[in-house]
Amino acid sequence: MDCSNGKDETQNVRDVIRSAYGQIAKQGGSCCGPESCGGSSAEAVAGGVGYDDDELAGLPEGANMGLSCGNPTAMASLRPGEIVLDLGAGGGFDVFIAARKVGPTGKAIGVDMTPDMLDKARRNAESFRKSTGLGNVEFRLGEIEHLPVADASVDVVISNCVINLSPDKERVWREIVRVLKPGGRVSISDLALLQPLPDRVRESVQALVGCIAGAALVDDTRRMVREAGLVDATFEPKSDYIDQMATWSDPLYRDIAGKLPEGAKPSDFVTSLNITATKPNAEDGLQGE
Ligand SMILES: C[S@@+](CC[C@H](N)C(=O)[O-])C[C@H]1O[C@@H](n2cnc3c(N)ncnc32)[C@H](O)[C@@H]1O
Repeated sequence: MDCSNGKDETQNVRDVIRSAYGQIAKQGGSCCGPESCGGSSAEAVAGGVGYDDDELAGLPEGANMGLSCGNPTAMASLRPGEIVLDLGAGGGFDVFIAARKVGPTGKAIGVDMTPDMLDKARRNAESFRKSTGLGNVEFRLGEIEHLPVADASVDVVISNCVINLSPDKERVWREIVRVLKPGGRVSISDLALLQPLPDRVRESVQALVGCIAGAALVDDTRRMVREAGLVDATFEPKSDYIDQMATWSDPLYRDIAGKLPEGAKPSDFVTSLNITATKPNAEDGLQGE
């Protein structure tokens, strides 16, 4: 990407992402950024990454934008009364699923840096409140590198296909640890790399917005999680999500496949990655400090 307009690279990346996701919020989403998914519905995308019919039923219309790459609330074993924070909440898809699980004594908070996404999520929250009677969701404007959330105030951090978009992933992991209560849990789905991408893909803006070009290597993700001080971490790669994109004739998949060396396919490079981890209790001390 050409970042030679005087702004720093980090700000450029954020501007590109915010503008692309603002467009998606206004025009309707797809699993892979501004392009469509070759006719695949958001429901099919969600089903393909592990959501069941019960989770999808009763969501506000348009909350599922087909932007996910896993099912973090399913891994989180949410309990009534817990406070959940969703990083890069989009239209609020996982926030609403989490809100039902934590119930009226709990709370689900979504943070997103794109004002148009936030507007959409807040409209969805209103229809969620009307249809379920639950007023336990809140959406906040902010960057996941500078979370608008108090220290040690959250039981569970979830996130779905977002950290790959951050130009400062180390800082995101440190922020996660800051906002978690001691003993709090992390349950995150994201895209990650099995090996470095060829330059032609890495430099593609479409692949950046589509959650691929900015993805970290799985090994770097392990290191960042450890250095942030999280413990008991698990990392489960699921490359079948990437292979499914081939059957959707997805334009991003086709574009990336065309830029790979002959005989290689996107899932040789990219995987969906489920990450769980825990913030140590105060008496255990923080590792990595
Ligand atoms: C691929 S979408 C995922 C949305 C949602 N998690 C879902 O599964 O439907 C990425 C979202 O993350 C937001 N985002 C990207 N980078 C961000 C950052 N650095 N800080 C806050 N939000 C960010 C975008 O605005 C967008 O709404």
